Amino acid sequence: MARDDKTKRAEEELRLARLLHRRAESRSDTEEVRRILRRNAKSLTPEYIERLWQEYNDLLRLLEINLDISAEHNLSKLLDKSIDTVIEVINAERGYLILLDRKGDLRFEVARGIDHREPDAGLPPAISRSITRRTIETGRAVITNNAEEDARFADFASVQDFQLRSIMCAPLKIKEDIIGALYVDNRSIKGNFSQKDLDLLETICAQAAIAIENAQLVEDNLKQQRKLLAAKEEVELLNKQLAEKVQRQSHELAAVRRSLERSQMCLETKYNYDNIIGRSEPLQRVFRLLDRTTETDVPVLIQGESGTGKELVARAIHFNGPRKSHPFISENASSISESLFESELFGHVKGAFTGAVSDRKGLFELADKGTLFLDEIGDLSMDMQSKLLRVIENGEIRRVGGKDIHKVDVRIITATNKDPAALVKQGLFREDLYYRLNVVKIVLPPLRERREDIPLLAEHFLKEHAEKTGTPLKALSPEASAALAEYDWPGNVRELENEICRLAVLSASSPVITPEFVSPHIRNATPSSTVTIPEQPRNLHATIEEIEKRIIVKTLNGCGGNKSKSARILGLSRDGLRKKMLRYGINTTGGEVTGKDKNNAERENE
Ligand SMILES: Nc1ncnc2c1ncn2[C@@H]1O[C@H](COP(=O)(O)OP(=O)(O)OP(=O)(O)O)[C@@H](O)[C@H]1O
Ligand SMILES: [Mg+2]
Repeated sequence: MARDDKTKRAEEELRLARLLHRRAESRSDTEEVRRILRRNAKSLTPEYIERLWQEYNDLLRLLEINLDISAEHNLSKLLDKSIDTVIEVINAERGYLILLDRKGDLRFEVARGIDHREPDAGLPPAISRSITRRTIETGRAVITNNAEEDARFADFASVQDFQLRSIMCAPLKIKEDIIGALYVDNRSIKGNFSQKDLDLLETICAQAAIAIENAQLVEDNLKQQRKLLAAKEEVELLNKQLAEKVQRQSHELAAVRRSLERSQMCLETKYNYDNIIGRSEPLQRVFRLLDRTTETDVPVLIQGESGTGKELVARAIHFNGPRKSHPFISENASSISESLFESELFGHVKGAFTGAVSDRKGLFELADKGTLFLDEIGDLSMDMQSKLLRVIENGEIRRVGGKDIHKVDVRIITATNKDPAALVKQGLFREDLYYRLNVVKIVLPPLRERREDIPLLAEHFLKEHAEKTGTPLKALSPEASAALAEYDWPGNVRELENEICRLAVLSASSPVITPEFVSPHIRNATPSSTVTIPEQPRNLHATIEEIEKRIIVKTLNGCGGNKSKSARILGLSRDGLRKKMLRYGINTTGGEVTGKDKNNAERENE
């Protein structure tokens, strides 16, 4: 084989070895390379073999550098590593890694001296910026071994000022973009760098540029990830805040809805019978009567002791009837003076009398299309009665001092705690007026005649108190409840309402109201003292039956409707009690009168 052929073959084998090595990325092929070289030794000159060997080792070194650099993804560490490598493999006194910032200015990232320290710590680098800039602008590496005398750099002040000698500068290039440069120099020695050093520097630059780009990408990625994470956290926080806000608002909405429902309920139930508490038969009769009168315009006379709910019933008639959207005017007749009666009822014109400084509507005009409720009608003088009768008869009024006659459309409801029929008999109430007013009479029974309503009313007032004051709902102990049921309640429902209010307040934090809180005059009222002796002489048998019935009702209430227990207390057999209950129309809870009594009672009210 001719020598040239052998050289060619050796070179080819070496290229193959390099390829193998690159692929294996390890030193394991070194021996193979040595073997190939040895096999070809005879045909090659020792210098040539040395050169090839050197070249091979350089390549290995580069490969190592490449692996080392490309494995580093932390930009700052990578820059440090790149410059350290350059200083190590190239015999340089100083090395600098320069990157271009966004504005295109040179940014000195890392500087290293031969001792691995920053050569000009704290000072601006004493290097040739012009050479660096030229490298970056042209994208071509620069090498000079005597810069001071190099004609190319004669105008570069820094070269002269810093007396720079050997300089190499290679661009950091990513495809066509130049991102910076690697600069090495040796200030005191001329001819320090060879073309091979420059090749090495350029190779390292090519690898470093790729690694820098990668590291920048990784860093950008990390930044992006951090930003995304922060944005995600912010979105999560906003979501949480939003969810809290939505929850708060839905709570508020629910509260508003509840209060709206409550107020609607109030509006709907305030003046219907739901507002009139009681299940006792006497009250049921009242309800049945109300059903028949609310829709009509007929005058109603309500009779009942003080506090039995006369005004409550009058309002129920108005607000359940066709006049509900018109005024309900309530006036206590006994509080109007004789002299002002006419003016109060019919109004007056300006100057009609001293003090009539302007025209004024009377109660009838104010109640036009609505209802006029006149309470305490039994206290009106005869003269006042005749004035009232006149307007009721013709439905016309004339203001005091006025000439015009006004037609009025007013439903009249009157009330009294006296017995108007007796007043008529005594000549204290005009009979004609009585018949005009008493088209429908509603008699409200006193509370002592419907004791079974007492626990219901008590519970109702306790609930009302809790709602009004926003305090927890309290309950009456069975003993306290029995004490209330035993009492006669001369002030009727109003008195009971006041007592319940007092109990709710006095029992403070106690959830159950026990008898010691009950007012002494109520608590100490003995059953005998609660027995009212009728004012009018009455049949003895009927009176005793009445008392018997009340004692049975009370005992049943006190025992929660337990018949055996009640019978034991009353000294009756269970069957004996059952018979008496049947006779008096008492159910197990001590309420609901049925049968004969019911019909009798109904008749009485009609
Ligand atoms: N059945 C009832 N249910 C609930 N509350 C009632 C009932 N009866 C009366 N009340 C309440 O008792 C109090 C007295 O009622 P109201 O003023 O209607 O009685 P009255 O007969 O007009 O009394 P007076 O003769 O003193 O004018 C009111 O607060 C009323 O709401
Ligand atoms: Mg009243």
